[in-house]
Amino acid sequence: MITVAEMWRSTIGKKTIVAVTGVVLVAYLVLHMAGNLNSLFGPGGAEPRIDWYAHWLRTFGEPLVPYEGIIWAVRAVLLGAIAVHIVGVVQLNARNRAARPSAFPAKRIGRSWESRLMMVSGTLLLAFIVFHILQFTTLTIDATPLKAGALYSNLYYAFQEWYFVAIYLVALAFLGTHLRHALWSLCQTLGLDSPERNFGIRMGANALTLVIVIGFALVPVLFFTGVLGEPSANELSATITTFGGSF
Ligand code: HEM
Repeated sequence: MITVAEMWRSTIGKKTIVAVTGVVLVAYLVLHMAGNLNSLFGPGGAEPRIDWYAHWLRTFGEPLVPYEGIIWAVRAVLLGAIAVHIVGVVQLNARNRAARPSAFPAKRIGRSWESRLMMVSGTLLLAFIVFHILQFTTLTIDATPLKAGALYSNLYYAFQEWYFVAIYLVALAFLGTHLRHALWSLCQTLGLDSPERNFGIRMGANALTLVIVIGFALVPVLFFTGVLGEPSANELSATITTFGGSF
C-alpha cells in the first residue's frame, strides 16, 4: 500500500493531498458561513443568537471534552490543512516551472484567468485570514469597539465602517474566484470528471461558490445597511455572565 510520504513525493499524489486539504478548508468555510448566519437573528433580548452560538461552540462536549476542546481541535486541523495546502501548491508550482522547456517561457495555452489568479488570490486570502483573526478572534485590531464574547456587538460596530465592509467584500470576491476554480480543479484531480459530468461539475462549483460568497456577504451588508439593528444595552453585561470572564 502507498504511504502518505510516497504520495507527497509524487506529483499526482501531492496534487491529491492539495485537493483533499482543499476539501477540508471548503468544509470549514461552509460551517463558518452557516454559523455566521446566526447573526441574522438580530440583537435578541438578553443574548443575541450569534453570541449563544459562539458560547455553545466553546462548551460543546463538556464535561467529556474540556472547555474550548472542540474549537482547538478544529483550529489544529485547519492550521495543518492550510500549511500542507500551501506548501503543496508552492512545490507543485516550482516543479511545473522546472519542467517547462525554456523555448516556451511564459505563455501557457488554455489556462483560464482564474487559474493564473490562483496564486494571487490564495496569497491575498492568507493575508485576509491573518487580518480577520487579529480582528475578531484575538481582538487586536480594535479600530471599532470589541469585547470578548460579544460577537453581535463586535460585528455591528465593525460593519458600521465602510472601510471594513469594503475589505470584507473585496476578500469575498477573491474567495469567489479562488473557490470557483478550486472546486472544479479538485474534482478533476480526484478523478470525478468525465465528458458527461463536466457541465454538472462546473455548475455545481459555481452554485456552491455563490452560496458561500453570498452567505458570508449578507452579514456585513445587512449590518451596514441598518437591517440588523444596534446591540441591546444588556448584551455586554450578559456576555460577562455567559463567558464567566474566562476570555
Ligand atoms: C463576512 C464574512 C465573515 C464574517 C462576518 C466572519 C466572522 C467571524 C467571527 C465573528 C469570528 C470569531 C468567532 C468566534 O470568536 O467564535 C471569525 C473567526 C474566523 N474566521 Fe471568519 N468571518 C467571515 C469570513 C471568513 C472567511 C472568508 C474566512 C476564511 C477564508 C474566515 C476564517 C475564519 C477563521 C480561520 C477564524 C478563526 C476561528 C477560530 O479561531 O476558532 N472567515 N470569523
